This record gives sequence, structure tokens and C-alpha cells, in this order.
Amino acid sequence: MQYEVVLPAAGSGKRMGAGQNKLFLKLLEKPILVHTLEVFQQDPACTGIWLAVKPEERGFIQKMLEDYRITKVKGLPDGGAERQHSVHSCMKEMQQVDIVLVHDAARPFITHDIIAKLVQNAHHHGAAIAGVRAKDTMKKVSMNGIIEETVDRESLWMVQTPQAFRFELIMEAEDVAEKVGFLGTDEAMLMERLGHQVHIVESSYENVKMTTQEDLVFGEAILRKRGS
Ligand code: CTP
Ligand code: MG
Repeated sequence: MQYEVVLPAAGSGKRMGAGQNKLFLKLLEKPILVHTLEVFQQDPACTGIWLAVKPEERGFIQKMLEDYRITKVKGLPDGGAERQHSVHSCMKEMQQVDIVLVHDAARPFITHDIIAKLVQNAHHHGAAIAGVRAKDTMKKVSMNGIIEETVDRESLWMVQTPQAFRFELIMEAEDVAEKVGFLGTDEAMLMERLGHQVHIVESSYENVKMTTQEDLVFGEAILRKRGS
């Protein structure tokens, strides 16, 4: 089943502390952004890529698309101040499609089988997001550092992207969020607010987001293990 993907790529990578957009950093000689783009370039089910970029980085990214022969990009609209604005800016330029995936450009290790499960799930239920079960014992801690309770781990998931939706549902959720000035940390939150059920699809612990320096070490280890 076909889909289009929105990749927010207009962040600044403050927590990475590299003094540049972290997506331009290389893992085994190839920029993180290119690793992510290649997953979708190589997925026959993906019919279009929308990339939110900083205006001053657009030229550099367009050159990268040419150099690495990424041909599925349909638009590179301006990103916004927050990730949610960057996603919305892509959605506003898209034509109606059945299924939209939103995926952090900073998660280069997503696989085609997880994407396919998400797309199927969103087709049937409207909204499905990737996540993994919490591995550690989880505690709720007060502001002054005292444990309040041990939370039942069975019901706790750490969520990731991709997040997959029927086009009209996520479009409505984003329009409403913008209108009322609600800012979520992921797209699912915008859907939850409107009372839509969001399903979780069990993903992989390898689908890490390149956020801080040590993630680059994990990232290169994953690539080596996969033989790329
Ligand atoms: N992103 C975006 N527009 C923003 C902020 C983030 O398109 N205004 C993108 C990032 O480029 C990244 C994804 O959203 O691909 C996930 O965000 P995050 O990991 O937080 O990246 P940064 O915001 O770049 O990093 P930091 O929060 O450390 O500054
Ligand atoms: Mg950020």
C-alpha cells in the first residue's frame, strides 16, 4: 500500500552540540539525512517525500539530493520554529493522498517492514505510531527528586516515528492545533486531543533518534552490524 512521507529536517541540533544541523553529520561517510532519505527512496511503496528545511540550508540540501540521486522529493518547504510547524508546512503543500507518514529525518534506521505495518494499520484504523516497550523499571519522581511511585511498566511504551495517518485525519488535527495554538511533541498528541484512537505498532530499539553525541556511536555500530 502506497504512502507519502513528511520528513522534518529544519532543526538545529542543539543537543548534539555540533555547531551545525546534526543531519549533515556523517555516519560511515554518509550524512544522516541521506541515510534516512535512502530508506524512502528505496521503498517501492513510497510515492513522494516532503522535506521541511531551513531556507538558508535549502541549496545545500538540494545539492545533496542530486549527489545521492534522491529523486522522490516533491517539495522542500520552509520549516518553522518548532517541529510541529515544520510538519504542518509540508502538509499544507501536499495534494490529498490516502496515507501520510511523518518521520524524523534524524531516525535513519527505520526499516521497510515496520513502515509497511504502520501504513496497513493506519489504513484500517486511521492512526498508528511506532513504539517500543519500556525496558527499565519506571518511577514517577517529584520536582525535588523524591520517588512518588513505581509505575507499572507493562503499560508504558517509548514512542518513536514514523507516525502514520489517514491524510484527512492528520490534516484536521494539525489545522485545529494551529488554530488554538496547541503545541504537541508528536503528531499522535494532536490526534489524541480530538479523541481519535491511535494504535501502536511494535518497532525496533534500533530505530533511535540521533540526538546526542553518543547516539552517533550507536548509529555507526548499527550500520556496521547491518553490513552497510
Ligand atoms: N525539526 C524541524 N523543525 C524544527 C525542529 C526540529 O524540522 N523547528 C526536525 C529535526 O530536524 C529532526 C526532527 O525534527 O529531524 C526531530 O527533532 P530533534 O531531534 O529535536 O532535532 P533538533 O530540533 O534539530 O535537535 P535539538 O532539539 O537538540 O535542537
Ligand atoms: Mg528539537
